[in-house]
Amino acid sequence: MRRVTLMQYLIEQERQKDWINADLRLLIEVVSRACKAISIAIGKGELAGILGGAGSENVQGEAQKKLDVISNEILLEANEWGGHLAAMASEEMDHPHQIPHRFPRGEYLLLFDPLDGSSNIDVNISVGTIFSVLRCPEGVSEPDERAFLQPGAAQVCAGYAVYGPSTLLVLTLGHGVACFTLDRETGSFILTQEGMRIPEDTGEFAINASNMRFWEPPVRRYIDELLAGRSGARGCDFNMRWVASMVADVHRILTRGGIFLYPRDSRDPSKAGKLRLMYEANPMAFIVEQAGGAASNGHQRILDIRPEGLHQRVAVILGSKNEVERVTGYHAA
Ligand code: AHG
Ligand code: MN
Ligand code: MN
Repeated sequence: MRRVTLMQYLIEQERQKDWINADLRLLIEVVSRACKAISIAIGKGELAGILGGAGSENVQGEAQKKLDVISNEILLEANEWGGHLAAMASEEMDHPHQIPHRFPRGEYLLLFDPLDGSSNIDVNISVGTIFSVLRCPEGVSEPDERAFLQPGAAQVCAGYAVYGPSTLLVLTLGHGVACFTLDRETGSFILTQEGMRIPEDTGEFAINASNMRFWEPPVRRYIDELLAGRSGARGCDFNMRWVASMVADVHRILTRGGIFLYPRDSRDPSKAGKLRLMYEANPMAFIVEQAGGAASNGHQRILDIRPEGLHQRVAVILGSKNEVERVTGYHAA
């Protein structure tokens, strides 16, 4: 079998299909190199003394882990000098990071969740990195927060890395979804799956059921029906999984189908859910749709939401199409 590296794959997309230009190719290569560095750091774990808390909080008021901060720095340093970016934004930074003036500026904006699932770091469970790429609006030379506030449908590329038993990179350029596996011996990401498809039907769901008492009626109704199994309205049994790393839960869904819900709940009415629109929900929604699945906040396609803030939160329901449509139907009822 011909081994296709990520670099070869991207050059093919550029030369033969004209789906990307050299700057976007460089951007993806640089992000993949940063993910490799994060994967190596995570692999060292306690040996490098990098488990545990950093003793600081991010803009969302969440305690940062050492690896949240390290991963953020790896992505910033890798991406600021190549000339492919106009600015970067991250879960771990209050405001966009400008490209230092000594480096050339490019036409893209990069957003990321440097380490997703950080509560799982210290217990050796899969975590990941999520990223989203937008075009910098025309005529904007110092992109501030407003430059980033584009709907998910405007993304030119999105992807995630999962640091699990294998390190994987999953990518969409808006023409389907491809998966690459890191060959730790050669240090290259190798294409291991193309045209990933999420089955339209599923018997598996993912939700943090400890929040059940805070859910809104449509979500409660849907989950009650799944839990009732064969003897209930659905007439069949469902299985439940919750890794608490969105990357790992989404990757399972991309591999064998399923539905993932982090709905809006009544714990804090000022927040429309837990997950962040710009660097968690949008890139995952883009990938899931490109694999034939669906992604909604219950009322609206995630990719159509007009963002109002860099760190805004959103309810997320994504995965196998027929199940997502059923839940959105319950919201409309
Ligand atoms: P992050 O570690 O980037 O803050 O994201 C964690 C997210 C997501 O990965 C996961 O699905 C969810 O939080 C888990 O939340 P609970 O701990 O409430 O289950
Ligand atoms: Mn996250
Ligand atoms: Mn994170």
